[in-house]
Amino acid sequence: MHSHSLVNRTGLPASSSQHWTALAKWLHWMVALLIAVQLVLGWVEASWRQSPTKLGLFEWHMSTGALVLLLVVLRLAWRLTHAAPSLPDDMPRWERRAAFASHFLLYVAMLALPLSGWVATSASGEAFSIFRLVPLPAIAPVDRHLMNVAGTVHLVLGILLIVLVAIHVAAALRHHLIRRDNVLLRMLPGRTKTPRS
Ligand code: HEM
Ligand code: HEM
Repeated sequence: MHSHSLVNRTGLPASSSQHWTALAKWLHWMVALLIAVQLVLGWVEASWRQSPTKLGLFEWHMSTGALVLLLVVLRLAWRLTHAAPSLPDDMPRWERRAAFASHFLLYVAMLALPLSGWVATSASGEAFSIFRLVPLPAIAPVDRHLMNVAGTVHLVLGILLIVLVAIHVAAALRHHLIRRDNVLLRMLPGRTKTPRS
């Protein structure tokens, strides 16, 4: 790497990372896509009348949800072992804090959603297989009350996630359209180098 790509607007050497790696971007957009699918599947399935179709929709919901959990765990492992690109120098402190807090809550929701669904399913006592391949292990005892509580937690988390994603998308658009920095562009596929910081 050559010096100018390592120097930011302050003239100081930039932190070792100024971009998201291809893997980090892939994980971000794959998880975003699968979560969108999950929210639709969840609500369609829950409102479907009792039928084999409902059961099929649930199997998809549970399977895709298990995949989301796996990808989010991988993503967190990546994130905790790599430096994220630094935020624009002129970003005020409250915005940095808001970004940190909202990303933290997004990670909490992304983990707690599949886990609460898994607890509710285990507590129902019914056996399912992930993509009809891997039996879903039980992580909770068969218990009607627990099933209802976990189900309610799951629903509330689903609503919370939608609110967080709405704020997240609004913030991304604000970076791009109002502040005109590279925060949105650097998360898009295909660009690993950033001309502006
Ligand atoms: C990111 C992952 C997930 C998201 C965003 C998500 C979202 C949703 C939503 C929006 C609903 C409909 C609202 C409700 O009735 O609660 C729902 C229902 C449900 N989900 Fe999930 N879910 C996820 C993962 C999972 C997983 C992994 C499981 C099971 C292992 C699961 C089990 C359930 C169950 C049991 C219901 C209630 C179904 C019913 O009432 O008929 N979910 N989910
Ligand atoms: C289910 C949907 C989504 C979830 C759960 C999600 C979650 C996250 C999380 C947790 C981060 C923080 C990354 C980290 O520092 O580890 C992040 C970063 C980011 N997300 Fe999303 N995201 C979603 C959808 C979107 C959408 C639709 C957009 C664009 C309109 C977007 C734009 C961004 C951008 C630009 C960043 C990078 C911020 C930075 O450079 O510091 N995300 N996302």
